[in-house]
Amino acid sequence: MDVDDVRGDLAEVLLTEQQVREGIVRLARRIEADYDGDRPLLVGVLKGAVMVMADLARELRVHVDMDWMAVSSYGAGTRSSGVVRILKDLDTDLTGRHVLIVEDIVDSGLTLSWLLANLESRGAASVRVCALLRKPDAARIVVPVSYLGFDIPNEFVVGYGLDYAERYRNLKAVAVLAPHVYQ
Ligand code: IMP
Repeated sequence: MDVDDVRGDLAEVLLTEQQVREGIVRLARRIEADYDGDRPLLVGVLKGAVMVMADLARELRVHVDMDWMAVSSYGAGTRSSGVVRILKDLDTDLTGRHVLIVEDIVDSGLTLSWLLANLESRGAASVRVCALLRKPDAARIVVPVSYLGFDIPNEFVVGYGLDYAERYRNLKAVAVLAPHVYQ
């Protein structure tokens, strides 16, 4: 879906399809260089990270494993609750593995901070975070993000995997949702 297909629902386009693409390529080049020889396990956080994971994994010129977790910290609203529930756990044993959590967005940081602690407790050799987007002004806890695509303003955004009430995930760009859609 392109911006023009939902133009009336969007307040502002923050990142075009092309800018997202360039961000993913930059992340991939840094990750390849750092993991040199250590095949990382990419852990995608469903559902928002599906697009980042699909494009990042294909851009990487090294072998990777992929697994998925589903956690929930949001209802259909636009605020983080801080309550994290595992809806789907990993299939992979993390013992001795180099884990790279692949996230769509770091907002309050509450979900990620919980996830980092959870995965670190499973005996991984290393656990790092790659996030396409981060809202620095929304941070309620500081989480180290080793690979960051873009810092964005503290507004509710949709597209490239990010939804509002399950819509807009298939938008190619990242855009600020117009308030009339959720008010
Ligand atoms: P956090 O716990 O506040 O960092 O947010 C965790 C999750 O909330 C993210 O992985 C997203 O799935 C979702 N989220 C946070 N901000 C946004 C947004 O602006 N649009 C859509 N989803 C968001």
